[in-house]
Amino acid sequence: MKAALATEIGPEARFDIVDLEIDAPKGREVLLDVRASGLCHSDLHAIRNDWGFPVPAVFGHEIAGVVLEVGPAVTDVKVGDHVVACVVPYCGSCRNCLAGRSVDCLHPDYIDRRAGEPPRITMNGEPIVQQFAVGGFADKALVNENILAVIDKEVPFPQACVIGCAVATGAGAVINAAHVRVGDSVAVFGTGGVGLNGISGAVLAGAGRIIAVDIDDAKLDVARRFGATHTVNSSQEDAVAAIRELTGGGVDHSFEFIGLQVTQRQAYECLGKGGSAYVVGMAKSGSTVVLDTSVPFLSAGKAVRGVSMGSTNLKRDIPMYADFYLQGRMNLDDLVSQEIALSEINDAYDQLSRGGIIRSVITDWTR
Ligand code: APR
Ligand code: ZN
Ligand code: ZN
Repeated sequence: MKAALATEIGPEARFDIVDLEIDAPKGREVLLDVRASGLCHSDLHAIRNDWGFPVPAVFGHEIAGVVLEVGPAVTDVKVGDHVVACVVPYCGSCRNCLAGRSVDCLHPDYIDRRAGEPPRITMNGEPIVQQFAVGGFADKALVNENILAVIDKEVPFPQACVIGCAVATGAGAVINAAHVRVGDSVAVFGTGGVGLNGISGAVLAGAGRIIAVDIDDAKLDVARRFGATHTVNSSQEDAVAAIRELTGGGVDHSFEFIGLQVTQRQAYECLGKGGSAYVVGMAKSGSTVVLDTSVPFLSAGKAVRGVSMGSTNLKRDIPMYADFYLQGRMNLDDLVSQEIALSEINDAYDQLSRGGIIRSVITDWTR
């Protein structure tokens, strides 16, 4: 199969286009024909920063495709199904899974192959790391059926793939983690690929004021198209003061979709009484924010919580978002900025780092 391979980690790291071998499905594994693979910012963070990701590896975790072949124990998908992968690994049999909290599964490595089994991906017989147990920057993927959701075949593949990470992470933080209610006020820090879906989630939940914060006016214009009722350019004005003003003292829920200490602090400081801040963006290892936890923190009843992958229950949420799209209730079209060929992955990631682009999606695997 054709894949983009990461062979080094560092500030200049890039992907090489190579030919790799992929194994046949065993047990509960599914072989996919990958039709669309999104360029999430996390993969770039992972190869450009020293976060401990091993190489050589196939990154990419935001994929949609068609089921080509299933292992003998697969029950939930069949050949020909259109599926989306969502990396919320779970086993289905630990106490948290059985308590309905698969997002807190105690055995997330269940979706990997066991020690002693051959690797799923190899190059000239040598093992290649299948990052996130997906390895989505490739024209084929071999994954456990637990991380696949079957969607309506009417959803185009590029729009479908972004549901698996950007949409699940952004909308899920608002819907599943914060349980935003009708009329609640919401602040969204960072209106990129993930944050825009936080806005979509807030609209679906019936939030009252939805305040988008970014440093890029073009992104804030897009945020309005997604349903932001107010926008704040934090490079030009004090975001915390603006949010306090707009909400009469502070917001009910704030979401940090960037991964920076400065915006994490703003997300905390803009909270009103009883407000909660949700930290979603991936910050560098060892990142800290010092908070004043003296009596006003207690009396205002504020909370700060981390959320991964939107606390997504993927078998329920992914088809739900796909249906919302088909019903015209969720904007996925504007998330897909451009469709690219596999060989354009490095240029497209450069564009993402410079800003001005939401998602590039690989749909051409021929070059
Ligand atoms: N203040 C406000 N907005 C900022 C700031 C800042 N200091 N710095 C960057 N931004 C905005 C950018 O202008 C952009 O609109 O944050 C947004 C980030 O969006 P993307 O680059 O599209 O990143 P995205 O894919 O949405 O991921 C966001 O979530 O999954 C994680 O690893 C991912 O940490 C990343 C975060
Ligand atoms: Zn992602
Ligand atoms: Zn489990």
